[in-house]
Amino acid sequence: MKVLVVYESTTGRTKAMAEAICKGVQEAGKEYDLIRAREFSTVEGYCAFALGCSTRMKRPLPKVRQILGELENLDGLPVTAFGSYGWSGEAPDIIANKLRELGGTFVGEKPLRVKEHPREDDIEACIKLGRELASHCS
Ligand SMILES: Cc1cc2nc3c(=O)[nH]c(=O)nc-3n(C[C@H](O)[C@H](O)[C@H](O)COP(=O)(O)O)c2cc1C
Repeated sequence: MKVLVVYESTTGRTKAMAEAICKGVQEAGKEYDLIRAREFSTVEGYCAFALGCSTRMKRPLPKVRQILGELENLDGLPVTAFGSYGWSGEAPDIIANKLRELGGTFVGEKPLRVKEHPREDDIEACIKLGRELASHCS
């Protein structure tokens, strides 16, 4: 089973986080699918799910809001949330709260938020999160 990493990103910052999460999954010897939010169809068949988005007007971008509106019961699926932000950074918390509300099992201490472009230590944190997600996959 693979880890699913879905993201929406306007200038590539959250995309860079998503790619680093996938690097962590790969380092842990597991497989992943990395897709844009507009390509999302289902979490069925995946062993863990990471959803990331930058913050716009204090909330996630429309495609991610759409996913959050359409997702059904996650039934204990390991989940996490991440995203880059400029000043307030609400999107990852909004995503995390919804994934928890739907019955996801949250992976990581808290949603992974990065101010503006991810630096080296932020990328390391993303890689670590990827490894953690992978640890939930057999
Ligand atoms: C129109 C617009 C609205 C924004 N609104 C917010 C906001 O409410 N809170 C915040 O923290 N950042 C806000 N930002 C900043 C972005 O979240 C930030 O630039 C982020 O790093 C972009 O990441 P991305 O390249 O992954 O989209 C806004 C940016 C734009 C262009």
